[in-house]
Amino acid sequence: MQHYPVMCEQVLSYLAVRADGCYLDATCGLGGHTRAIAERLTSGRVIACDRDAESLEIAARNLEPWSDRIILRQALFSELEKLLAELDVAGVNGLVADLGPSYYQLTNPERGFSLYASAAPLDMRMGRSQPLTAADLVNRLSEDELADLFYRLAGERRARKLARALVRARPVRTMGELARIVESAAPRGKGRLHPATRVALALRMAVNRELEELEALLEALPRLLAPGGRAVMVAFHSTEDTIVKHRFRDLARRGVVRLLSKHVVRPQAQEVRENPPSRSARLRAVERI
Ligand SMILES: C[S@@+](CC[C@H](N)C(=O)[O-])C[C@H]1O[C@@H](n2cnc3c(N)ncnc32)[C@H](O)[C@@H]1O
Repeated sequence: MQHYPVMCEQVLSYLAVRADGCYLDATCGLGGHTRAIAERLTSGRVIACDRDAESLEIAARNLEPWSDRIILRQALFSELEKLLAELDVAGVNGLVADLGPSYYQLTNPERGFSLYASAAPLDMRMGRSQPLTAADLVNRLSEDELADLFYRLAGERRARKLARALVRARPVRTMGELARIVESAAPRGKGRLHPATRVALALRMAVNRELEELEALLEALPRLLAPGGRAVMVAFHSTEDTIVKHRFRDLARRGVVRLLSKHVVRPQAQEVRENPPSRSARLRAVERI
């Protein structure tokens, strides 16, 4: 599979990688950014983490030629501070977080993220050891709880109607069933999006506690970075990007970091042409003071 680490040139330029530095890739995935950083190191190292053991196995194979300078670990954002303490690292010179699921996870039908893989289980866990799946939420939450989740996490305006349709159709076991139930309750309009896109996004965010994890990462950021250390975050939807923007501004106001990107940085037109999923990427960067 062709693999394009998103906005790689900008990520590297904001990180300003030092050959002897210590870096943390909080979202290793299949190892695209980790590799780009590792290639620039001599005595330095990259601690490359992901919550998904399966992705880390593939990353280990992809990163074999640079394995002398890479430490791979399964870890959540909320576990990174503890991990650095275990590795005896007081703070890193740079951290990258490329948020959300990877293209590999999204397009692997077994992982149950895609509305177009109709037989796929309603799963959506980024790490398969997580106990809760999207099916658990759809089949166990009350109608009000589901409606609240669809509205709050994805701004779905027909949240109540869709929650009612799903509750009536329980049990819902596959992505195909979810897609059909939502489509019959709220038929496809003129837009390009599948009518269940927002419902699926909300379920994914809830299953993986994506906003809670992002908040935990941002809260720990000042302690994860060494003085002068840089953090580069790439978000893929406005809810995440707004959280990053506000937290970075707040840290800058308190004199904890300096903003490296005054405004959001978007991918170049050429990258979007070559790798269309990069079109929604939004990058922001700070430096620890
Ligand atoms: C967009 S992909 C990263 C792709 C990677 N930069 C590359 O070039 O291959 C995001 C990765 O972050 C992981 N991830 C998302 N949220 C996480 C969290 N809270 N803790 C740890 N890993 C997370 C996902 O499992 C996924 O593999």
